[in-house]
Amino acid sequence: MTERDRCFSTLSRREVMILRSVFASLLLLFALSLVSHPQSAGGDEGEAVFKENCSLCHSLDRPRSRHLLQREWQHIIGRMMGFGCPISGSRKKQDAVLEYLAKTQRPLTRPVAKAYVVHEESEDVWVIDVATRKVLAKAKVGKLPHGIIASPDGKALYVTNMGSDNITVINTQTYATTTMGGTGRNPHECAVSPDGHLLYVSNPSSNNVTVHDMRTHLPVATIPVGRFPHGVTLTSDGRKLYVANMESSAISVIETATNQVVATIPTAPGPHRMALSPGGKFLYVVNTDANRLSIIETERGREVKSVLTGKAPDDVAVNPGGAILWVADSESRNVEAVDSRSGEPLATVLVERGPGGLALTPDGKELWVADVAANTVAIVDTAQRRVVTTLPVGNRPHLILITP
Ligand code: HEC
Repeated sequence: MTERDRCFSTLSRREVMILRSVFASLLLLFALSLVSHPQSAGGDEGEAVFKENCSLCHSLDRPRSRHLLQREWQHIIGRMMGFGCPISGSRKKQDAVLEYLAKTQRPLTRPVAKAYVVHEESEDVWVIDVATRKVLAKAKVGKLPHGIIASPDGKALYVTNMGSDNITVINTQTYATTTMGGTGRNPHECAVSPDGHLLYVSNPSSNNVTVHDMRTHLPVATIPVGRFPHGVTLTSDGRKLYVANMESSAISVIETATNQVVATIPTAPGPHRMALSPGGKFLYVVNTDANRLSIIETERGREVKSVLTGKAPDDVAVNPGGAILWVADSESRNVEAVDSRSGEPLATVLVERGPGGLALTPDGKELWVADVAANTVAIVDTAQRRVVTTLPVGNRPHLILITP
């Protein structure tokens, strides 16, 4: 028999009846007070109950460090009552503290999308909140930085420094940096394996790709490719690496299991940067020296369409659905939208001094364009197809990476 049962058994029926009616009228009064002061429900009372009871066995920091859904809080409160939290005697206190926690300790909004802008001359990477456009941090890197990629877990950024022949690793939480060597000469761009273990770096002045183990930060392989390799693009399964060799006008296809070049795909002169279609069926390559966009069918390993672009196309980005390509025509000073199937131009958007690196926001609604000579980033609304904002950035912004 529990304490409470014993207590009730000593009362007479009459006493129980009286207690019940008293209780009922108290309840009515309480309900009325709720109606007349809806604000007082939960809020302050919940906080009081929380402070009084949840600090009995541990500090309040313990619950305050958690950000959970209401049902998860319900579960925790249940556990705390199991440990002996005194609110187990009062349904009202339980509800009040639950409401309080669900409101004040709700899940944090998901991490903000960030844009990382690499500046060749100010030799730093600016971190910009995509939604607010606020500059969150600036991280110093090596000399003439160019390529940038994020580790798959988002914890690190890798920046290839063409002028100092090394790679800067940036911690995305603290923005602290470390440096790793072992590249070839003038490391240009990089790609990371889906498991985050390997980094592939193109070295235009060594005509090779170096492979780096990111657990040890040591180089593990060197793969000879064509002349003056620039862009590197890895398939989403990490099995194939495409390398754009600007001076041999061809794409080297590397099988990552063996680190061997298994195919070479000719393109128009000056293949520079590339992007894969969402399913990986097509590889889009901008050929800077030929004012062309090559559409390559990856399975057949050959160009299926060559599309005329503006002058000196520098970069290409694919919208999330894969239907539209954005091409940065650096010398025509515009970005153009191209139908990915037909290759037909859909629109052109002028960019002040000449666009370089492109990055689409994860929802595809904005295209961020590095304007190298203007030291700005132009933000294009992809539906309206016009520049909606221009952000001043560092000196010679070359490439932009946006992470969700
Ligand atoms: C009678 C002691 C006691 C009281 C009172 C108490 N707790 Fe705890 N709490 C514990 C113990 C013991 C642990 C560590 C064991 C565990 O986490 O399972 C803990 C851990 C926690 C944790 C960490 C659990 C996790 O999964 O990370 C949270 C959050 C928490 N308490 C919230 C609360 C809240 C909210 C209250 C008030 C409603 C409360 N506690 C009141 C004993 C208590």
